[in-house]
Amino acid sequence: MVKICCIGAGYVGGPTMAVIALKCPAIEVAVVDISVSRITAWNSDQLPIYEPGLDAVVKQCRGKNLFFSTDVEKHVSEADIVFVSVNTPTKTSGLGAGKAADLTYWESAARMIADVSKSDKIVVEESTVPVKTAEAIEKILTHNSKGIKFQILSNPEFLAEGTAIQDLFSPDRVLIGGRETPEGEKAIQALKAVYANWVPEDRILTTNLWSAELSKLAANAFLAQRISSVNAMSALCEATGANITEVSYAVGKDSRIGPKFLNASVGFGGSCFQKDILNLVYICECNGLPEVAEYWKQVIKINDYQKNRFVNRVVSSMFNTVSNKKIAVLGSAFKKDTGDTRETPAIDVCKGLLGGKARLSIYDPQVTEDQIQRDLVMNKFDWDHPLHLQPMSPTTVKRVSVVWDAYEATKGAHGVCILTEWDEFKNLDYKKIYDNMQKPAFIFDGRNIADMDKLREIGFIVYSIGKPLDGWLKDMPAVA
Ligand SMILES: NC(=O)c1ccc[n+]([C@@H]2O[C@H](COP(=O)([O-])OP(=O)(O)OC[C@H]3O[C@@H](n4cnc5c(N)ncnc54)[C@H](O)[C@@H]3O)[C@@H](O)[C@H]2O)c1
Repeated sequence: MVKICCIGAGYVGGPTMAVIALKCPAIEVAVVDISVSRITAWNSDQLPIYEPGLDAVVKQCRGKNLFFSTDVEKHVSEADIVFVSVNTPTKTSGLGAGKAADLTYWESAARMIADVSKSDKIVVEESTVPVKTAEAIEKILTHNSKGIKFQILSNPEFLAEGTAIQDLFSPDRVLIGGRETPEGEKAIQALKAVYANWVPEDRILTTNLWSAELSKLAANAFLAQRISSVNAMSALCEATGANITEVSYAVGKDSRIGPKFLNASVGFGGSCFQKDILNLVYICECNGLPEVAEYWKQVIKINDYQKNRFVNRVVSSMFNTVSNKKIAVLGSAFKKDTGDTRETPAIDVCKGLLGGKARLSIYDPQVTEDQIQRDLVMNKFDWDHPLHLQPMSPTTVKRVSVVWDAYEATKGAHGVCILTEWDEFKNLDYKKIYDNMQKPAFIFDGRNIADMDKLREIGFIVYSIGKPLDGWLKDMPAVA
C-alpha cells in the first residue's frame, strides 16, 4: 500500500489529504502536525476549520485510510510520498522583513525529513514558496541524506477557502513541477498517478520546478489584481455617479475578461494574496526588476486604500466622529463560508474605527470571540504562524464586544458595517434592526449584498461600495 504523509494539518493540508484519502482507497494517508490542539480537533467531531462538505469527507475516511497524528517522525519515516504544507508567513525581522517569505517552518520540516528517513522518498512542496525554494530544500535533504534519495516536486495548491472541497473534487488544474531528469520524471508520474484517480488527465499539468513555484505566485497576484482593479473603479464610480455593479457586469461580458472575481468590496483578505504578492515583489527586487516589483506593489496599495476609504466614509457620514458611538460589525471572516480571519479587511476596518474611539459590537457566524480579540491585538503577519506560537492576547480589547447574533450586535447601534458576505446577512429583518437602532441609522455595506432600495425605504442612510451616493453622503464628503 502506498503511504502518504502530509506535514501540516491546516487549511490546505487537512482538506487536501482528506480528499486524496476519499478518492484513493488504496492509499494510506497520515496528516501530522506539531500543534496538539489542531490534531485533537481533527480527531474529534468539531474539526479545527470550517469548510462546507469537509465534515462528511473526513467522517467517511477517518480511521480507515485517513489518520491525524502528532507522531510526525513515525509517519514521515514510513511514507513513500511526503507533502509539506506548513506555514510560510511573511518575515517580520531581518533581511527581507515585511516582504520575503519566512521559510523557518519549511526548513525545519526538511531537516526532520532528512533525519528520520530510512528509505527513498518523494517530497512534495504544497505550501506556497518563493521560486527556487525546491533547490534549497533539495540541498538540505541531499546534504543530510545518509545515502537516501529524495526527489523534490512542486505541487502548489490552488483551492479557495469556502469552496475547498468542491475545488479539490473538480480542480481547474493540478500542477506538478519536477526535475527534468529520468528520476524527476518518474517522481512526477508517481504523483500524477495519485491525482489520476479522480482528476482527468488533461487537467494535470506538468512543468519544471521553477515554473510550478512561480505559477502559484503569479496566479494569486493576478486574482488579487482583478480585485484591486475593480476596487479602484469603485472609487471612480462613487465620484462620478456610475454604478460599479453595472460597470463590472459590462466589463465581464467581454469573453477575454470574463465575469469572475469582479465584485467590488472593502478589500481582499485571506492568508495568501498579500503575502504572496509581497513575496513576488521581493523576488523581483532581488532579481533587479524594480519596475516589475513596483507594478505588483500597487495591488496591495489599492487594497489598503480601499479599507481606509471605507473607514473614512463611515466616520465622515456620521458627522465626522464615531467617538463613543456603537457600531455593529457584521462579519469578521475574510469571506463567507470560512472561519478564517487571516488578513481579513475586518481587522483594519475595526482598528480604524477603534482609532476614532468607536464602540464595536462584532458578530460572525463562524469566528470565535477569542479569535476576534486576538486579531485586534496581534501585530501584522503574526497570525500566519502556527497557533501555539502566536502571542496570546493578555487582555480583551476595551470597547469591543463579541456577540452571537446580528440583532444583538445592532441593538442600540448608530451604524452597521457589513464586512463579510455571509448569506444570512442578506436575509436579516432589517426593519427590526432599524427599529432598534439610534437615528439617523446608517448601513455601510462593504460587500454590496444588501438591497439598497429596500433599506432606504425602511429609513436607513446607506453606503454601498461603488454605488451612487445618496444625498446625505454627498453632503458629507470623505477624505480619500
Ligand atoms: N489557505 C489557503 O487557502 C491556501 C491555499 C493555497 C496554498 N496555501 C499555502 O499553503 C501553506 C499552508 O497554508 P495553510 O492555510 O494550510 O496554513 P495553516 O496555518 O492553516 O497550516 C499550517 C500547519 O502547519 C503546521 N506546522 C508548521 N510547522 C510544522 C512542522 N515543522 N511540523 C509539523 N507541522 C508544522 C502548523 O502547526 C499548522 O497547523 C502556506 O504556504 C499557504 O501559503 C494556502
